[in-house]
Amino acid sequence: MDHDEAVRETWRRPPAGAGGEHERLRSLVHHATLAPSSHDIQCWRFRLDGRTISILPDLSRRCPAVDPDDHHLYASLGCAAENLAQAARADGWEPVVRFEDRPPPGRVRVDLTPAPARASDLFDAILRRQSTRTEYDGTPLGPEELELLRSAGTGNGVRTVLLTGGRAKETVVDHVTQGNTAQLRDRAFVRELKQWIRFDDAEAVRTRDGLSGRATGNSSASRWIAGPLFRLLSRTGPANEAYARRIRSASAVAVLVSATDDPEHWVEAGRCYERLALQATALGVRHAFVNQPVEDAARRRRFAWALDLDGRPDLVICLGRGPEMPRSLRRPVDDVLR
Ligand SMILES: Cc1cc2nc3c(=O)[nH]c(=O)nc-3n(C[C@H](O)[C@H](O)[C@H](O)COP(=O)(O)O)c2cc1C
Repeated sequence: MDHDEAVRETWRRPPAGAGGEHERLRSLVHHATLAPSSHDIQCWRFRLDGRTISILPDLSRRCPAVDPDDHHLYASLGCAAENLAQAARADGWEPVVRFEDRPPPGRVRVDLTPAPARASDLFDAILRRQSTRTEYDGTPLGPEELELLRSAGTGNGVRTVLLTGGRAKETVVDHVTQGNTAQLRDRAFVRELKQWIRFDDAEAVRTRDGLSGRATGNSSASRWIAGPLFRLLSRTGPANEAYARRIRSASAVAVLVSATDDPEHWVEAGRCYERLALQATALGVRHAFVNQPVEDAARRRRFAWALDLDGRPDLVICLGRGPEMPRSLRRPVDDVLR
């Protein structure tokens, strides 16, 4: 299978309501796997038990250098849970989603009961959502768009703060570039990141996870030039300049903030991010994460203080209009069902 076929297979929609109940539940899992995860690690396993779908963390896919407390890992489970809930409503189920912290390491449990099917703009956007790491066109978002985004990104103990002013965006530029510089000087961070980079198409198609050169805005290259290319890309100066251009050209920067700092709220922050991202996609607005200010505890506190944020800043996202980028890949449903 070549890269284009793998992309088509990943981002397809199984026919709605087709097949028996088991096929329908597998289709919900397929939609859940289209959610984003940090470095596209796809840190999830799914278990079907009657009309309950459990989303369990796959700890073999942890990234302790960038995500020492597993915040991003649980947030990624929340993203998958939100896609699952949106797809369930469209397929004629009422989903009840909750986080169970026992037995450790916890899981997200989704109980389904039959209900009238309700399609929605957010469901339609699942197949079009992508992380778009590019410069944006800088056009402002209208008050209605901002309100739709804020309300999509609000949940139980999680809120979205939208920054549109030049000064606030400069604060984000400072914290992203400081964080990026520190991360690229950290050997453990760079080693871990390199493990998840898929420079060449064949490798991306074989693993169907990780950060492909294409999706991150770089060409597909073979492994023999991957090392030098990686060193070039990870030079702090050009990388920081690209981040600054992305943030300054964004229509807004969204910061998701949890009132309580625990896995239950990290899952909730992931759900809120996913709704925000789907709402943005439905509005024709693209987005990309710039999480460097929140990935280290001390830097995160300084970031919260600089922006006067009360709570844990979970995720930082640029929003803006811009071109579509190449798509990421996902492992097939059979690989994540246990
Ligand atoms: C919790 C979380 C943290 C992420 N952090 C970053 C980040 O700091 N920088 C970035 O470029 N992408 C980040 N991503 C985006 C993933 O790399 C991306 O979702 C993945 O590669 C799949 O691509 P897609 O979103 O286009 O489907 C993050 C995603 C999640 C869910």
